[in-house]
Amino acid sequence: MRDRPIGSGLRIGRVNLGQGLILAPMAGITDLSFRLIARRFGADLVTSEMVSAEGVLRGNTSTRALLHTRPQERPLAVQLFGGEPRAVAEAARIVADRGADIIDLNMGCAVPKVTRQGAGAALLLDPARVGRMVTAVRQAVTVPVTVKIRSGWSRKQINAVEVARCAEDAGADAVTIHPRTTKQGFSGAADWDVISSITAAVSIPVVGNGDIRRPEHAKRMRDLTGCDGVMIGRAAMGNPWIFQQAKQLVAGELSRPPPPGERLDVMLDHLRLFQECRPGRPLLVGARSLIIWYSRGFPGSSQFRAALAGCSTCARMLEISRNFFAALGETSPQAEGEEMHEG
Ligand SMILES: Cc1cc2nc3c(=O)[nH]c(=O)nc-3n(C[C@H](O)[C@H](O)[C@H](O)COP(=O)(O)O)c2cc1C
Repeated sequence: MRDRPIGSGLRIGRVNLGQGLILAPMAGITDLSFRLIARRFGADLVTSEMVSAEGVLRGNTSTRALLHTRPQERPLAVQLFGGEPRAVAEAARIVADRGADIIDLNMGCAVPKVTRQGAGAALLLDPARVGRMVTAVRQAVTVPVTVKIRSGWSRKQINAVEVARCAEDAGADAVTIHPRTTKQGFSGAADWDVISSITAAVSIPVVGNGDIRRPEHAKRMRDLTGCDGVMIGRAAMGNPWIFQQAKQLVAGELSRPPPPGERLDVMLDHLRLFQECRPGRPLLVGARSLIIWYSRGFPGSSQFRAALAGCSTCARMLEISRNFFAALGETSPQAEGEEMHEG
């Protein structure tokens, strides 16, 4: 059972994480450029995309690119996936030597290519193997080791509390819970009651995740579940301000949505970093997605997306982006999705 007061800040092992607002790992999204921007806007910890332990051991070029880091983004959690404890432990040692401040173990990826290897969410089906995995990694590194889990494999196999306990007993320093089942993928709502059950069951820090769409949801998740930290994924895409706004809310300060001019500037900076971080690689598709994130929720954004789709150069995309943001004046984006977790 927990022995610390709720809301006392987040510390994972020896790493202090302030208010515990964490950028979620998102494959194909949370590259170095995304993480640098999230840190600048208040994320206390950023997490890499999931990285294959086998890829690390083989020294794959694409895996090496995922491990590229800069001092400004630290503290950095690098997330590893794999099904074989010894291989994951060896990969963790290499990754920690390259500067990861925390090793996070992926136990939630529902992609069949991953689960077929006994990795990702497949581990939830075998809590004893979760324990062996954490023990092996714990012995291989001196940095904190965390696990990111789902509620269970299916509605009939909800076992997140058991898995969290196994991870804690094996030496995990924290557990992050995205409370949807593997079968659910991203459908339906995240069941925050599962977060509450875990905070009641373990004494290591618990990070809650799932369906934080607006800054006030972060506070609501803490209040409702007693979790120690909050992880934000999709809502940070094109909206890094969500981290600082959530902090301002807790401090009782007024937070204002950034004006369109500021959005444009940050988007341009993000694009610059995106380009810098992938020298020699084609930009057009990635840059288009990134611009679309920053335009979400604004009036006219669907026509804007259609116009971007017709662009064959980055220069043209930038030109129409400048026009789009300039035409917005002081308009604020509309919040996406319906209100949830009103508590
Ligand atoms: C495009 C995408 C990629 C993701 N990749 C990963 C990943 O590599 N590792 C992981 O543990 N979770 C991954 N997730 C899940 C997120 O980390 C997070 O648990 C989920 O999106 C729920 O949080 P949110 O509602 O704040 O987005 C991914 C999610 C998305 C949308």
